[in-house]
Amino acid sequence: MRNICVIGVGYVGLVTGTAFADLGNRVRALDINEERIANLKKAILPIYEPGLGELVERNMKAGRLQFTTSYQEALEDAEFAFICVGTPEGVDGEADLQYVRAAAEEIARLMKKPLIIINKSTVPVGTGDWVANIVRENQKEPIPFAVVSCPEFLREGSAVSDFFNPDRTVLGSMDLEAADRVAQLHLPLRAPIVVTDLRTAEMIKYASNAFLATKISFINEISNICETLGADVKEVATGMGYDKRIGPHFLEAGVGYGGSCFPKDVKALAYMAQVHGTHPQLLQAVMDINDYQRRHVVRKLEEIWGGSVSGKTIGLLGLAFKQNTDDMREAPSITVGDYLNGRGAKVRGYDPVAMKNAGKIMPYVEMVDDPYLLAKDVDALIVLTPWNEFKQLDMRKIKELMKEPILIDGRNLYEPDLMQNIGFTYRGIGRGYDGTKTNG
Ligand SMILES: NC(=O)c1ccc[n+]([C@@H]2O[C@H](COP(=O)([O-])OP(=O)(O)OC[C@H]3O[C@@H](n4cnc5c(N)ncnc54)[C@H](O)[C@@H]3O)[C@@H](O)[C@H]2O)c1
Repeated sequence: MRNICVIGVGYVGLVTGTAFADLGNRVRALDINEERIANLKKAILPIYEPGLGELVERNMKAGRLQFTTSYQEALEDAEFAFICVGTPEGVDGEADLQYVRAAAEEIARLMKKPLIIINKSTVPVGTGDWVANIVRENQKEPIPFAVVSCPEFLREGSAVSDFFNPDRTVLGSMDLEAADRVAQLHLPLRAPIVVTDLRTAEMIKYASNAFLATKISFINEISNICETLGADVKEVATGMGYDKRIGPHFLEAGVGYGGSCFPKDVKALAYMAQVHGTHPQLLQAVMDINDYQRRHVVRKLEEIWGGSVSGKTIGLLGLAFKQNTDDMREAPSITVGDYLNGRGAKVRGYDPVAMKNAGKIMPYVEMVDDPYLLAKDVDALIVLTPWNEFKQLDMRKIKELMKEPILIDGRNLYEPDLMQNIGFTYRGIGRGYDGTKTNG
């Protein structure tokens, strides 16, 4: 049993804190958001994450998990402090480190005993050293501490299971004893542990996210070539994915990547590279393809109508950036909704869990309570999130409800032949047989 303090109780911090409590440690989780902490004390979660609510409740009842807004209380007995605050995109694409700085300053002011500070937030290469300097400069009296980088790789929507079954744990530090103590915390997870220096650990996180984003942009580029040549990108991806050197994951063509990580992390890596005089051409292409891909679904509509979407009513089926989450950060639906709204279309939306968050960002969207209400009298539907429940919809009923049976499937959820047999004008992404190809 170890005493752990977690700073920042968002997607990463809440999962990390709760999971370490579940492994038998005593965890104090701190956030500056008072409403968030007041709710968590009543076991009301600030985010939608499958399986997390039950885990929070169980560990609170067992007395292993506590929530607080006080750094003093959180650091009281802590041997380890995990920094899990946000690192959003800054003005020029660089990571904004103001929350990390604030956390480091507070830790320095209020730590009373030796502490291992573990950076879980995704931070630019060199931030570990920077945090160490901030702590040193802000301590009232010198108390020994070490900084370890432990980047987080969990995915929203499967975060709990990802935490307990990681592919690897990466630890970076110049203090091998501290890295070893953090490794001990992770031993129950039985995953390979890569121990390296601080900067390399920070880089592993960016390189991993950039590689995954590259796979997505790669298959999206292939999907556009498939569209012009009449091949089916879904089958292309299946055929490629069996090759062990390639693997089947992240080869789903669609409306592009979104979320709280890939967009900002690819940008931040490109920014770091540029500032240090290198030319991140591949990263630039990955971002350009992603921008293009987000608007591709609307171009398909404009093509069908031979021009503008003005005056049309369009339903967005799914708003969250991916399934099983209510996270709207950098969701492709925002780009699509803004584009349609800006060109005079009426936009309606439905999502199983993200409508509340989406409404704050896209106030012009008329939110409806179910997919059939969404379909009623619309001129077209665009699928933007691959929720499983959308696969079970009665598509004949959906078609009957629509004013014009136009279905733009931005996630390739449906089978083109089936949708065409039902009577939809169907367009998928890179599907040879969706009615767009010449079959020449
Ligand atoms: N969300 C993901 O899927 C994911 C996955 C891997 C890595 N990451 C990285 O982890 C970090 C956190 O991401 P997130 O999605 O959990 O962010 P989030 O926005 O969901 O949560 C951040 C929390 O930190 C709190 N906070 C801000 N400043 C604080 C301070 N000074 N002291 C205490 N709390 C403070 C905020 O109130 C908020 O609750 C980011 O660097 C992100 O890139 C996120």
